[in-house]
Amino acid sequence: MPRPTTSSIPPLPPLPFTPDHPLRTERLDLRPVRHDDFDAVYTYRRRPEVSRYLYGSPHDEAACRAWIADKATRTTLRESGDYLQFAVVVRETDTLVGDVTFVYTRREHRQGGIGYVFNPDHAGHGYATEAARALLGLGFEELGLHRIQAELDGRNTASARLLERLGMRREGHLRENEFLDGEWSDEVIYAMLAREWREQREQREQRPAS
Ligand SMILES: CC(C)(COP(=O)(O)OP(=O)(O)OC[C@H]1O[C@@H](n2cnc3c(N)ncnc32)[C@H](O)[C@@H]1OP(=O)(O)O)[C@@H](O)C(=O)NCCC(=O)NCCS
Repeated sequence: MPRPTTSSIPPLPPLPFTPDHPLRTERLDLRPVRHDDFDAVYTYRRRPEVSRYLYGSPHDEAACRAWIADKATRTTLRESGDYLQFAVVVRETDTLVGDVTFVYTRREHRQGGIGYVFNPDHAGHGYATEAARALLGLGFEELGLHRIQAELDGRNTASARLLERLGMRREGHLRENEFLDGEWSDEVIYAMLAREWREQREQREQRPAS
């Protein structure tokens, strides 16, 4: 297939850009973080196993309140480098199960990034995969991005499985490029292109409903 020429690339949406909240998936609502989310967020962000492969320590109460105060403001993209933060809520039970981040990395190159942190008590239901797929949809369908990336610690196998479920491609493995918690660690990079997203979407649409 010929590579798209510049003239075939659709215009970028104007900034500032605020998504229609909530982003709805089959089971989830992705909405802005609120101050009254503190209890639900602190429950998992205080746990060492949750922050094991994240930058920074497990939250104490003050860190979690500061995190919420900052993230509650991350609802609009104004320029490259801005990000959107969402609380992920199971619609049926109104339970906050995690949070996800969409990064508008470089507007001129149409690049974005995703991140996700979930409460282990709600693991194993596919919620993180479903929420992350909504972020890919936002980036490719609404923001006209060309490529979306995720970076993770090479030891974070749960995160790698999630990205593979999404159909993202393992693009890079950087050997010992970070020094975390007193040891060298590898960084792994996954990504997806807009045309790969469209191919997957077509396959999903062709699949008979179960
Ligand atoms: C990374 C993280 C979000 C993955 O959580 P998770 O619970 O494994 O992911 P999901 O919610 O998508 O659930 C997937 C699991 O549910 C199962 N599952 C059940 N129903 C499912 C469904 N409808 N759709 C998809 N998966 C489903 C999958 O088989 C999978 O199980 P497996 O891990 O045994 O293969 C979680 O481990 C986490 O928050 N870690 C701490 C923070 C972190 O490291 N973040 C990433 C930084 S790069």
